[in-house]
Amino acid sequence: MFSSSDNNFASIIGHSPDLESVIRTAQIAAAADVSILIEGETGTGKELMAQALQQSSRRADKPFVIINCAALPTELVESLFFGHEKGAFTGADERKDGYVQKAAGGTLFLDEIGELPLSLQAKLLRFVENGECQRLGSHETEIIDVRILAATHRNLLQMIDDGSFRQDLFYRLSVVSIRLPNLKQRRQDIPELANHFLKEAASRNQTTACTFSKEATNQLKHYSWPGNIRELKNVCEHVSALLPGETINKENLPLNFTDNQSSDTSAYTLPEHGIDLESLEVDLIKQALNHTNGNKSRAAKLLGLSRDAFLYRLKKHKL
Ligand SMILES: Nc1ncnc2c1ncn2[C@@H]1O[C@H](COP(=O)(O)OP(=O)(O)OP(=O)(O)O)[C@@H](O)[C@H]1O
Ligand SMILES: [Mg+2]
Repeated sequence: MFSSSDNNFASIIGHSPDLESVIRTAQIAAAADVSILIEGETGTGKELMAQALQQSSRRADKPFVIINCAALPTELVESLFFGHEKGAFTGADERKDGYVQKAAGGTLFLDEIGELPLSLQAKLLRFVENGECQRLGSHETEIIDVRILAATHRNLLQMIDDGSFRQDLFYRLSVVSIRLPNLKQRRQDIPELANHFLKEAASRNQTTACTFSKEATNQLKHYSWPGNIRELKNVCEHVSALLPGETINKENLPLNFTDNQSSDTSAYTLPEHGIDLESLEVDLIKQALNHTNGNKSRAAKLLGLSRDAFLYRLKKHKL
């Protein structure tokens, strides 16, 4: 069904239902030439997803310009985005293109979009809406055709509530939104991901690949993974460098894996007599709403749920 563009998503390893459903949405959206917002915690593969989307789009062989919005110097931000005329400011001794001109006909990936200063958000909105922009120091309006992909680990709905992100820009950027699951929401993918990273490290170091023992795999599967897939990749690179080609036992894993504080398996112990899961869920949802004075986005965050998953549960329990 998605034959020609399928391979571009093959670099995204994993078969958990959550991830597969995200990939299916992404495969369809890639072809649609609309703005896509990629959300997910740090290290969940947002940049990898943006690359796969661009590669599967009809703009694959056109420019792909990546902007890290968290690393923009505030004074230069407008000219970096939209370019400037000669003499537009002290030091502007020639006319220069900005990111949007460099991306013309192709794709602009706005990484860490939550960090974009409010002052630029209005100008970006105008550009996203109708492709209009002005170089600094010019009165002429240019129209540039660019497809926008954006990513963030921030909760933009909460930022809208706080007044630090524009709601109109949010809607223009998230014509389709894709939320990548945390690693702990897709533990079944851990062995496959680990093997992939071990093989990758071995081929880079020109050694035989390590393998994880059963106990070590178990340990990996029960860890909380705050750094998500990037953290798992680091662990695989660490053991591959120190114990090339060997079977990695529990004891060989970096220290934090044996620290129960960082493992979330013991966070809750099921009592002998069991529990009533439905009423526990209702109770926790009510507590979360109480904590946040009824703010649903923040309550969802407290429970580690996406806003959609939280709203689904509210409806399910008729709350
Ligand atoms: N599903 C996956 N399969 C294989 N590799 C993955 C997968 N997800 C992430 N990675 C790898 O993990 C690392 C982190 O991914 P990436 O940089 O895309 O995360 P991110 O969500 O952009 O993180 P951050 O918010 O910190 O920028 C990269 O080396 C990436 O190639
Ligand atoms: Mg990233």
